[in-house]
Amino acid sequence: MFGKKKNTPSIDSEQLELIQNAQRRIKQKKRLYVHFVIFLIGSIFLILANTVLGIGEDVKFFGKEWFLFAIFIWLFLFLYHVFNVFITNKFMGKDWEKSQLEKLVAKQQNRIEKLKKGFEKEEKLMAQSQVYNQAKPQTKVPLEKSGHKQDLTIIVAAAENDAIGKNNQLIWHLSDDLKRFKELTNGHHIIMGRKTFESFPKPLPNRKHVVISRQENYKVPEGVIVVNSLANAIDMAKNDSQPFIIGGGEIYKQAMLFANKIELTRVHHSFEADTFFPKIDTSTWKETQNRYHDKDNNHEYAFSFITYERK
Ligand SMILES: NC(=O)c1ccc[n+]([C@@H]2O[C@H](COP(=O)([O-])OP(=O)(O)OC[C@H]3O[C@@H](n4cnc5c(N)ncnc54)[C@H](OP(=O)(O)O)[C@@H]3O)[C@@H](O)[C@H]2O)c1
Repeated sequence: MFGKKKNTPSIDSEQLELIQNAQRRIKQKKRLYVHFVIFLIGSIFLILANTVLGIGEDVKFFGKEWFLFAIFIWLFLFLYHVFNVFITNKFMGKDWEKSQLEKLVAKQQNRIEKLKKGFEKEEKLMAQSQVYNQAKPQTKVPLEKSGHKQDLTIIVAAAENDAIGKNNQLIWHLSDDLKRFKELTNGHHIIMGRKTFESFPKPLPNRKHVVISRQENYKVPEGVIVVNSLANAIDMAKNDSQPFIIGGGEIYKQAMLFANKIELTRVHHSFEADTFFPKIDTSTWKETQNRYHDKDNNHEYAFSFITYERK
């Protein structure tokens, strides 16, 4: 066990690979040589079978004996074998496979690097918004202390099943609800996601539009502000006593964490939709107003204007 170590000859993996490769080539060439010999003997046999033994004496194709075609086809297969051994295996052998694999790996690594960069950028944006969330109680206090109380208000019309939109459009038309939206938001900042902004035919008059998008060069008409996070959007409206978050689904979900008021129009009907308002958690929100509006000639559905305030 603790005796003198025996000196056994060893070869590294590269040498082993070279030896294996050489053995493989020798085998391939041997097989080709055997094929050649069989081809020669076989051809002579076919000729003798026809001319001496008279096998298929009457069988002719295009006026030529059948064995000529048989030998020709065999010759073609033999040449194909030669091609495989000397061309395909030489130029598309192990080395070629290795270099292709290396190219593929390099390509994949490049893609992974690109994805990583994308994630880092995304993480930075998320962190910005998380920092805002964590900092929220402190940011609110100085505003209140300085006598500048801000009512960050979510304004939304949602059905009984919380549906708010489909195919980037509203699902209903309720003129008194639109009238109320106009009255409440008039003269204020309206903060929205890029998709909601694109659902308008043009910007609404007398309101400062703040559009949230991750796109770097998102083009908007003059006067419209583009920011890359909700935190920055709220910051843009810091001098407004009541900025409004006007949607859509993605932005509402994020804004629920730090809005302190919700102006909800609850449409008393359920709709098929692709965008929904988050559930209002009554342990966080208390209802402070509720006004019912029946359906009539101008309003296909009954609805209620409900105000919630953060507890
Ligand atoms: N019933 C209602 O009261 C009401 C109100 C408003 C809207 N809606 C409806 O809601 C639907 C649209 O809502 P939606 O959820 O599809 O889209 P959305 O919230 O309006 O916009 C989503 C877009 O906002 C940007 N975005 C979201 N979060 C972001 C973040 N943290 N940082 C940077 N950018 C961010 C992204 O823009 P990029 O892709 O450009 O990066 C994203 O694609 C429509 O059907 C509309 O009619 C209903």
